[in-house]
Amino acid sequence: MSDEKTLVTFFSAEGTTAPLAKEFAAKVNADLFEIVPVEPYTAADLKYTNPLARCNREQIAGKDVPSQGTIENFDQYDTVYIGFPIWYAQAPRVIHTFCKKYNWSGKKIYAFATSGGSGIGKTAEKLKSSASGAVSIEAKLVHSVDDICNW
Ligand SMILES: Cc1cc2nc3c(=O)[nH]c(=O)nc-3n(C[C@H](O)[C@H](O)[C@H](O)COP(=O)(O)O)c2cc1C
Repeated sequence: MSDEKTLVTFFSAEGTTAPLAKEFAAKVNADLFEIVPVEPYTAADLKYTNPLARCNREQIAGKDVPSQGTIENFDQYDTVYIGFPIWYAQAPRVIHTFCKKYNWSGKKIYAFATSGGSGIGKTAEKLKSSASGAVSIEAKLVHSVDDICNW
């Protein structure tokens, strides 16, 4: 039997990605950690049609968006799934900030995303600079738990 351990983390601002992450984690018996911004997003914060909305300001400035809590014994995980919505054709700033907090040496990252229609684009390549040391980073757009299971 393999003693590899898997962690499923996710950020979901509007509730689409969350159920996929939770169901997938339960299905594969992985630990689950929700990435919650220290300052949670309000509906107004997410209104990207407003140039002054928080989401736009953070994106344009490439801001760090800290999240609550810390994953205990992060070292024990060999494989980490990270779920999130596509924002501005890639992972939201909070995911980049989250990744920068940890040492990814020896870990494989599988990033799964939901979107309003965009493809996965260069999400994996762009995450690389934030998840330093990861053995590999793959990313794909998902519509169902099966899409994550059938990586
Ligand atoms: C700030 C912001 C930026 C977004 N940018 C994109 C985008 O570039 N391409 C896209 O297809 N959808 C975009 N979306 C839509 C989300 O990716 C989509 O609704 C996603 O499924 C939401 O997941 P969630 O409910 O887990 O937050 C954006 C949404 C927000 C709030």
